[in-house]
Amino acid sequence: MSPKQIYITRKIPEAGINRLKQAGLTISLNLKDKPVQRLELLRRIKDQDGLLCLLSDKIDQEIIDAGKRLKIISAYAVGYDNIDVPYATKKKIMVTNTPDVLTDATAELAWALIFACARRIVESDRFVRSGKFKTWGPTRLLGSDIHHKTLGIIGAGRIGQAVGFKAKGFNMKLLYNSRHRKTEFEKNTGARLVSLQKLLKESDFVTIHTPLTAQTRHLIGPAELRLMKPSAYLINTARGPVVDEPALVRALKNKFIAGTGLDVYEHEPAIHPGLLKLNNVVLLPHLGSATTETRNKMAGLAAENLIAGLGGKKPPNLVNPHYS
Ligand code: GLV
Ligand code: GLV
Repeated sequence: MSPKQIYITRKIPEAGINRLKQAGLTISLNLKDKPVQRLELLRRIKDQDGLLCLLSDKIDQEIIDAGKRLKIISAYAVGYDNIDVPYATKKKIMVTNTPDVLTDATAELAWALIFACARRIVESDRFVRSGKFKTWGPTRLLGSDIHHKTLGIIGAGRIGQAVGFKAKGFNMKLLYNSRHRKTEFEKNTGARLVSLQKLLKESDFVTIHTPLTAQTRHLIGPAELRLMKPSAYLINTARGPVVDEPALVRALKNKFIAGTGLDVYEHEPAIHPGLLKLNNVVLLPHLGSATTETRNKMAGLAAENLIAGLGGKKPPNLVNPHYS
């Protein structure tokens, strides 16, 4: 049997590449330090058995149809809203992701944004660099407390819960909104399941951890933003389109909320120009899982999923529902 061929859309950490080589797979790789062009991917995928792709690659029906031999799509991410999973399932193509290994790193980044917003870290850094720090100021750059405040978690999956666990050290009150009750999480953190409306009304920090689905697209729109306290912050490390970005810009300009910390954007990598002009906004370039340790583990897991799938085994992180 000739070796199985896989295409990797962008250079991932060596740990993953080496594992794939060890398994005897023939690898082709986009070596350019930028996303693969769509036409290039359409051409490349024709004779591949497996694809390892990024969250920025749109894997739709046309790409899937071009992959005449394709057996498995391994996403180097936990979120897979960029892949048409129902269509892949119809074509008997497995889809896998890299959950768990990035849970804590992503939760830590949500915390980094909570701190950056509450204590005006980025704005303060700009203040110092611009030479304005001449003397200590009794009322300069005042932020807000985090301890004993209310943290509202939208989406209590693995990442949302990890954010909640880390709040314990700050004696915060925890509210969460989720389709399912998480009794273990409640027992360990004292978190309370509440409606989205109640969460928005009562939280000082609202942090989003839902996947992007038809149900969560624009979950936070003008009406939801109006429910938030004028002193509250919105943190999004999940997926940009969960928030109506123009509505968020209007809410910030009108001071309906105090600020926002974003790692993801509605039309990523484009950023709403209104966000760039505001000082009470912290903007990151989608770094949720971006630690050396975590990205190595993601690369390893993405490789294991491919190897299992191409070896006729069930991959550890198969996401297609009803795949047989
Ligand atoms: C990052 O956003 C991921 O889905 O892994
Ligand atoms: C989402 O929060 C997940 O980790 O699945």
